Amino acid sequence: MTSNQTEIQARLTMSAAEICTQHLRDLCSVTRDELTLSLDDMSVDFTRQPVTASIMQQLCLLAEVSGVKEFQQQMMVGQAVNISENRPVLHCGLRAPERLQSEEWKQLSGFAETIRADDTVRHVINLGIGGSDLGGAMVLKALAHDCDGPDVYFAGNIDPAALGDVLKHCTPEHTRIIITSKSFTTAETLMNAALARDWFAKAGVDADTAFIAVTAAPEKARAYGIESNKIFSFSDGVGGRYSVWSAVGLPVMIAIGADKFSSFLRGAHAMDQHVMTAPFADNIPVMMGLLRVWHRRYLNRSSYAIIPYSERLSRLPAWAQQLEMESNGKRVGRHNELLDKPAAPLIWGEAGTNAQHSFFQFLHQGIDEIPLDILLPLSPSNNADDPFWKAHHMTLVANAVAQAEALAFGTDNLDHPHQHFPGNRPSIIISWQRTTPYALGRLLALYEHVTIVSGFLFGVNSFDQWGVELGKARAIALEEALKTDGSFSDFSPAAAHLIKRARDIIG
Ligand code: F6P
Repeated sequence: MTSNQTEIQARLTMSAAEICTQHLRDLCSVTRDELTLSLDDMSVDFTRQPVTASIMQQLCLLAEVSGVKEFQQQMMVGQAVNISENRPVLHCGLRAPERLQSEEWKQLSGFAETIRADDTVRHVINLGIGGSDLGGAMVLKALAHDCDGPDVYFAGNIDPAALGDVLKHCTPEHTRIIITSKSFTTAETLMNAALARDWFAKAGVDADTAFIAVTAAPEKARAYGIESNKIFSFSDGVGGRYSVWSAVGLPVMIAIGADKFSSFLRGAHAMDQHVMTAPFADNIPVMMGLLRVWHRRYLNRSSYAIIPYSERLSRLPAWAQQLEMESNGKRVGRHNELLDKPAAPLIWGEAGTNAQHSFFQFLHQGIDEIPLDILLPLSPSNNADDPFWKAHHMTLVANAVAQAEALAFGTDNLDHPHQHFPGNRPSIIISWQRTTPYALGRLLALYEHVTIVSGFLFGVNSFDQWGVELGKARAIALEEALKTDGSFSDFSPAAAHLIKRARDIIG
C-alpha cells in the first residue's frame, strides 16, 4: 500500500467517525443534486447516503490512487487480471458490437432461431447450477413479457424434485435439454442430465437428438456424446457468474429471440462504455462500488440488501448474491496476503412490496443499520396503457419511494419506543423507464462493475472461487465411503451417523 492510500484511508476513517454523529435528516435538509447520477433513462439517487461532498471526493481519490482505472483498462484489453488462475476476464467483450459480426454469434443465434421456428420443440430445459443457472433464470423472468418462443425452464438443484417438477410440464418428444456447465464436470448438472436421459428412455424417445451443450470444455461434451453442431462453447476467461452474455444465454435467446438478446447485450455495452469513460465522480458503477467499500470497511456494515420493486426482477437478488459473494467473499488478498479488514458484504433481498411484509420490520427498527439498493422500473413492462395496471404500478412506485424516505428519516415517538422509528438507514434508488432487454442488460452490467470495482478496492481477486472446492471434495469422499462401505474415520461421528441413517431410510 502506498503512503497516499494510507493517508486517504486514515482521513476516511476520521470522516466515518464524524458522519456517524450526523443523521440523514440533517444531511438531506439541503438539496444534494450532485448526488444523483444518470445514464440515459437510468437515474441513480445517492442522496440518502451517509456521505458529504468531501467524503465522496476522498473516496474518488482513493479509487484514483489505488489504480481502479488502470485495473479496469487491463481487464478490458485482456490482461490476465484473474491472477490466481492466470486468466484474462473476457465477459465485457461478449457485449461489444463486434461480437454480432462473429462466426460464434452467427452459429449461436442461428441455432436459437432454428429451435424457435421448429414447431415440434415446445419445451427447453436448461440444466446448470450457479452461474450456469442464476443469470439465465433471472433474465427469463425479468423479460417474461418478451418471451415468444418455446417454454423455457431451469433446473439446477441436485434434489431430483427440481427437475422432476419441470418434467411434469413437458412431453419427451417435444423437449430439448441444454446442459450448461462451464467445466462440464459439475455433479449436480451431470446427475440431472442422467435423470433427464432416463425420462426420455422410459418414454421410448431418443435422448441423443434432444441434448445440447453449452460449455468452456467442448471436448468433454463431445466425449459425453453430444454432436459437435449442438455444442456451443465460450472462453475460459468468462467466469460462470459473469457468463449470461455468452452461449450460457442460449435458453434466454431461444425464449426471446436473437434480436432482443442483442439488445440486452447493447444495454450492457452502454454501461461498459460509461464505466470506462465517465470521471469517477459521475461514474455510476464506481460510485456504487466506492459506497460498498464505505459501508463495509469504514462503517462496519456487514450486510447489504437489494430490493427490486418489480415482481419480474424477483430473482435478481439471488443472482447478485452469487456475483458479489462468490467474487468478493474472501479473506485472502490478490497477492496471497491475509486481509486485515473484511471484504464482500452479505448480499440478500426479495421483491418489494412483498419484502415490506416480511423483513422490513428488521430494516426499520432492528439494531443493525442495513444499507439497501431499491430497484425501480417507473412503468410496467407490459399493459402500460391499461388503467388498472397503471394504477397498480403507481402504487408500487409510491411504496418504493415511501420506504426509502421512512428508512432514512424515521419518525420520533420517544414516549412509545416500540413506535419510534430511528431512521438513518441509507438507500440508493436506481430507477429507469421500463424493463426492456436493453435496460436489463445495462442494470446487470452495472452490478458486475460494482462488484469488480469494490473487489479491487477490497484487495481481492473477484474472478476465482476456491472456497467452493472443499465442500465438493468432502461430498465426493462421503459418497465414496458409503458406496464402498468404507471407513468414515475422516468424518466426525455425527456426520457418519447421519449419512448412515439416511442410507437406512432411503434403502
Ligand atoms: O461451485 C461453484 C461453481 O463453480 C460456480 O462458480 C459456477 O457458476 C457453478 O459452480 C457451476 O459450474 P459449471 O458451470 O462449471 O457447471
